[in-house]
Amino acid sequence: MSAQVIDGKAFAADVRGRVAEHVARLKADHDLTPGLAVVLVGEDPASQVYVRSKGKMTVEVGMNSFEHKLDAGTSEKDLLELIGQLNADPSVHGILVQLPLPRHLNEDLVINSIDPAKDVDGFHISNVGLLATGQKSMVPCTPLGCLMMLRNQHGSLSGMDAVVIGRSNIVGKPMAQLLLRDSCTVTIAHSRTKDLAEVVRRADIVVAAVGRPEMVPGDWIKPGATVIDVGINRVDAPEKGEGKTRLVGDCLYESCAEVAGAITPVPGGVGPMTIACLLANTLTACCRENGLAEPEGLTA
Ligand code: GUN
Repeated sequence: MSAQVIDGKAFAADVRGRVAEHVARLKADHDLTPGLAVVLVGEDPASQVYVRSKGKMTVEVGMNSFEHKLDAGTSEKDLLELIGQLNADPSVHGILVQLPLPRHLNEDLVINSIDPAKDVDGFHISNVGLLATGQKSMVPCTPLGCLMMLRNQHGSLSGMDAVVIGRSNIVGKPMAQLLLRDSCTVTIAHSRTKDLAEVVRRADIVVAAVGRPEMVPGDWIKPGATVIDVGINRVDAPEKGEGKTRLVGDCLYESCAEVAGAITPVPGGVGPMTIACLLANTLTACCRENGLAEPEGLTA
């Protein structure tokens, strides 16, 4: 059997298209333009690439993009002051502080200083608690993207066995909460899980989010299961020439694709969905702030 390849790039383009349509309606009907502020501290090259890409796509869907680039030595006091200004700014509906932060800054303190209503990453402790208790919240972008793809694939997820590999606050834990809310039977596996292969073999849905290149082989996958690979790992690729690298997921793609019913590739699977969901969250935040109906199909 050869799995259906879930085209995350096309799916993300569709999500951005729906966001753009809704943004155009907000402008026409309410003279309202959603705004996203992104704060980058320091010069981490990967973060710079992400931030540039976020800014570009924000503008492409018709939203306002506000970029704040601070130098690596910025004090916690100055960063908190900026966040306070963004919290108070009515033209800013979403705030994202790019992680990781330089080590002298307390990440929890910084994230929890963002107004939860503008916390489009869904990392604020209030949003984490609201999600865990099944209340309306901002939902982290990567798990939201995975959920959208799974719902699109299966319709209802009710009663399905889901295994999430990885327990991070950014992906694993919120992913598990979302699957539970959609009535899956959810297992969170991690580095200390006993007989991980057997645990994964039970799953109708596997979400791999550990950050270990090609860790999940095809013989762990139940025939016909849906495999969502969140991993983005850069590995050496000597076959492409000296010093060359390539991106791989947490799943051994070829062997998993032989067994799975559907699978997301790396790159071009979950990755593009994260920014699309960030834009969807910014739109949602803007609608909520203004007492307007939320965009359908773009929230959890
Ligand atoms: N760094 C890597 N991924 C993310 C993300 O989703 N949000 C933020 N704020 N920083 C990140």
